Amino acid sequence: MKVAIINGPNLNLLGKRETDIYGNMPFEIFFEELKKKFPQVEFTYYQSNIEGELINEIQKVGFSYDGIVLNPAGYTHTSVAIGDAIAAIKAPVVEVHISNVHAREDFRKLSHVSGKSAGSIFGLGLKGYELAIAYLLSLKTPA
Ligand code: DQA
Repeated sequence: MKVAIINGPNLNLLGKRETDIYGNMPFEIFFEELKKKFPQVEFTYYQSNIEGELINEIQKVGFSYDGIVLNPAGYTHTSVAIGDAIAAIKAPVVEVHISNVHAREDFRKLSHVSGKSAGSIFGLGLKGYELAIAYLLSLKTPA
């Protein structure tokens, strides 16, 4: 089972950035914990601050991986092209936001990604990534 985690702009600053909203944990440390929690999953992790690079990565993994956990960060609210990339690929995408985007500024309520994704998780902190992976695993594991 192969899962790609893709994080968008400024998420390289997790642990330093607006810690009241995003918490104190750098993603790299969280990712080590995640790998231990899901030893049956082969993970890749990719972060970029550049829209086209995120699209390249979505296209790269999107036809061979079992799922993608995607936090497009600020591009969620602006990027038609990331939405189109999700629509173009075969792998199911779970959109994750650490903060509750619906409890913040109005511009964060628009997502170009939600409508193209299998589902979306927001406001549950880094736990959202875990829940997204558990969901992708459940698609592969008969109940
Ligand atoms: C975010 C929410 C976005 O609105 C914001 O631009 C981010 C992070 C989140 O994980 O809560 O950079 O995607």
